[in-house]
Amino acid sequence: MELAERSESNHLNLQHGENIIIRLTYISCYNTSNANIEVARILEQARRNNERNGITGALVINESYFLQVIEGSRPIINALLQKLVKDDRHFSLSVVECHEIEQRRWSKWSMQYLKPSDGNKEDVLKFSSSATFNPYLMSATQIRLFIEALSKHQEEQ
Ligand SMILES: Cc1cc2nc3c(=O)[nH]c(=O)nc-3n(C[C@H](O)[C@H](O)[C@H](O)COP(=O)(O)O)c2cc1C
Repeated sequence: MELAERSESNHLNLQHGENIIIRLTYISCYNTSNANIEVARILEQARRNNERNGITGALVINESYFLQVIEGSRPIINALLQKLVKDDRHFSLSVVECHEIEQRRWSKWSMQYLKPSDGNKEDVLKFSSSATFNPYLMSATQIRLFIEALSKHQEEQ
């Protein structure tokens, strides 16, 4: 590549925010009518792709909902968001929060798997109005605190 061309392409990359890290949090509903859905497969695919794309994050799953945090460069996160919206293994995807960040929170994980269970049902009750996990009933702050609590709980195991 010619120098001028390279400098143009660097300029475009920067314009597109490749150097900026963002964290996006969304919630969605598990598509139970899609027989193709398998949590292990989603996780495996997520981890494989994320490692390649420099994405880190956490995924909370129960039998009805997904709650996911993804961190990475701005164009990469936007590209993933578009794929996620089209993925029919879930529906009603709703973005809860999206911020530029100085540093990653989930840098240890290409995708940490977190599961609300009997062992951590106190965390569910602490941050929601009901004892069952429903992220659509939670505020962005509650969601953030809830994921932190689940992750901490899991790290202590
Ligand atoms: C709940 C859920 C979470 C997902 N998380 C990720 C993810 O973190 N990274 C990823 O690359 N794909 C993730 N996917 C899969 C994407 O929607 C999409 O199928 C995949 O990125 C396409 O990859 P491909 O272009 O390599 O086929 C997720 C799918 C679901 C349903």
